[in-house]
Amino acid sequence: MSAKTTALIALEEKYGAHNYHPLPVALTRGKGALVWDADGKKYFDFLSAYSALNQGHNHPKIVAAAKAQLGRLTLTSRAFHNDKLGAFLKLLCETTGMERALPMNSGAEAVETAIKAMRLWGYRSKGVDQDRAEIIVCEGNFHGRTTTIVGFSSDEGSWNGFGPSTPGFVKVPFGDADALKDAINANTVGFLFEPIQGEAGVILPPPGYLKKVRRLCSTYRVLMCADEIQSGLGRSGALFACDHDGIKPDLYVLGKALSGGLYPISALVGGEDVLGLFTPGTHGSTFGGNPLAAAIGEAALRVILSEKLPARSARLGALFLSRLKTLRHPKLKEVRGRGLMLAMEFTEPVRPLVLDLMKRGLLAKDTHENTLRLAPPLVISESQLAAAFRVISAALAALPE
Ligand SMILES: Cc1ncc(COP(=O)(O)O)c(C=O)c1O
Repeated sequence: MSAKTTALIALEEKYGAHNYHPLPVALTRGKGALVWDADGKKYFDFLSAYSALNQGHNHPKIVAAAKAQLGRLTLTSRAFHNDKLGAFLKLLCETTGMERALPMNSGAEAVETAIKAMRLWGYRSKGVDQDRAEIIVCEGNFHGRTTTIVGFSSDEGSWNGFGPSTPGFVKVPFGDADALKDAINANTVGFLFEPIQGEAGVILPPPGYLKKVRRLCSTYRVLMCADEIQSGLGRSGALFACDHDGIKPDLYVLGKALSGGLYPISALVGGEDVLGLFTPGTHGSTFGGNPLAAAIGEAALRVILSEKLPARSARLGALFLSRLKTLRHPKLKEVRGRGLMLAMEFTEPVRPLVLDLMKRGLLAKDTHENTLRLAPPLVISESQLAAAFRVISAALAALPE
């Protein structure tokens, strides 16, 4: 490691809280699927900032939209209207086939917004008694890091030390429609789920599960709320991961790639029957929906649509998955995924492999210790993907048995 990199890392380590375990690399530049470190070494980015960089680093159209807005008008708060927000919300609603959108900043904030929306709907529309609303979530969920959200996490590292947890959440196994049915009662207002569980290690729903969930939610008047913050906007090889099962939820929670990788932008999108219940003073955010975010978010969405990134993700993902499936190693348990949301599960922690991949010029991260997540920007070229496969193949061949 160069003195420059060592100094950059030491500075972060000294002054930052140690709530992450980053790879020992300090990045200074990015373009498309590539990033460069402080010493000028080039890497394939196979994390994409946890799927926030579907459009790649510094997409020229998104950067241009940001630059056009910078120096003109960046922040108004929602106390005033601005000339950018309406167009962004319109495109968001048209893209999702929904009626209204509520813009926020981080993914966790959008999930919190969804929780409030489902509870509000439960009280105002379904007739649930005051403070009795229940939301069903899945084992293995990851919806963010705020106190309410970590309170219903099944990952001990997420919740332990941050109690007491917020009441009103019930957990059921992911993929088990009968368990969901059994958990629904008169106070159930929503089912919050990831159509593909990302942080849990890219866990796909069993065939037919989401259709059954849709039916149950409609039958029992429960809001079906898909957290597509990671799986959405092309990552899984469809615009939304729910599309693979041909279903439409009542609410989409979006974030990450809505930002084009530039600036935190998230949103809750849904019908008038739910989002129409918010009235002035019931929810808000100083930065949510600001003109800079709206300009960037609109450009980020347009790039996903005009460059047909969902179809590209489907094609390249199928190609890459079929290649990964040819790899053999006694410690390699399973290769799985959809689109460019892929994972290799091993029988032991993958940190040594991750460090070796880094040395060979590919940045990826473990999720839940034994699983290597592979999620490059969707704009990655076929030749880059082929080169990345050669890196993974060589690292696997060098991994002690
Ligand atoms: C499915 C899902 N929901 C919510 C979040 C939280 O998003 P943020 O980190 O922007 O708060 C994430 C982040 O990884 C996620 O994958």
